[in-house]
Amino acid sequence: MTLTRNVIHRDFLSMGDVSGAEARAVLTAAIALKSGELRPDLTGRSLVLLLEKPSLRTRVSFELGMRRMGGQSLSMLPQEVGLGGREPAADVAQVLSRYADVIAARVNAHRTLEELAATASVPVINALSDLEHPCQTLADLQTILERLGGLQGVTVCFIGDGNNVAASLAIGCALVGARFRIASPAGYELPDGVVSRAGAIAAAEGGIAPELLTDPRDAVTGADVVYTDVWASMGQEEERDRRARDFQGYTVTPQLMELARPESVFMHDLPAHRGEEVSDDMLEHPRSIVFDQAENRLHAQAALIAMLLGALPRPG
Ligand code: CP
Ligand code: NVA
Repeated sequence: MTLTRNVIHRDFLSMGDVSGAEARAVLTAAIALKSGELRPDLTGRSLVLLLEKPSLRTRVSFELGMRRMGGQSLSMLPQEVGLGGREPAADVAQVLSRYADVIAARVNAHRTLEELAATASVPVINALSDLEHPCQTLADLQTILERLGGLQGVTVCFIGDGNNVAASLAIGCALVGARFRIASPAGYELPDGVVSRAGAIAAAEGGIAPELLTDPRDAVTGADVVYTDVWASMGQEEERDRRARDFQGYTVTPQLMELARPESVFMHDLPAHRGEEVSDDMLEHPRSIVFDQAENRLHAQAALIAMLLGALPRPG
């Protein structure tokens, strides 16, 4: 992925597919799009979203984001496409490249995204895989930037599973100079590959390598952002009971928030399981910014798509 002025070329499968400068350019454009200062024109351009899993935020924000910019969008459900079953991902990507200007896909296996990207002649965007959820991270970083006024040196602590959301956030923090700490029970740590990738990015960008902890209280103490996600992700439903036992003590509560900085914020990508990773009252807590995060999916993805399609006005 390279940036020529304000145009990003090719795929966005991982948060690590952009540089720190590119990530900041997307965030700046997202904020300008949100305020109405920037109005990309995507008339005649189209996006196809392939879904192998359920979605509210991702589907609606991709679809309405395209329409707000004058473009068109179409979502395809698993039973309609049969990605990798009825038709190989490589063939699906070549066909869709003849119809659409950009493909987004929410997949069970990250490998499917790589197969799509290998033969697509248009950009492919990761709309969530088992490994990463980079579009969520763009919206999260935008929300932190708006709320705290900056990203450099901000301490983001993640409580729970070292999953797709945590992985993209760890890499995103490394890209923009934020400090990322994660507290997970044994066996649920951030994957080694993600830790090493985020560490390498931090070294290259002058950022901070992720810190792996086990005690949620250690992670939250002094944090600017407290973030959590479900203990059992989509596709792990049969592990829900075991995970509920293994994650005991990892629930984010107002009491845990008291250890964070007084001006800290609480974040969750949603949907949330109240009574598991969050107490019943956490989403409505005065420090919760979870619905701002959800809103920013619209703006951050619109900025990403506009940059991928070269539809932002060039800087003067
Ligand atoms: N946060 C998120 O991606 O939500 P959906 O699964 O509803 O798209
Ligand atoms: N980790 C969750 C995120 C949902 C947006 C999942 O993969 O189900």
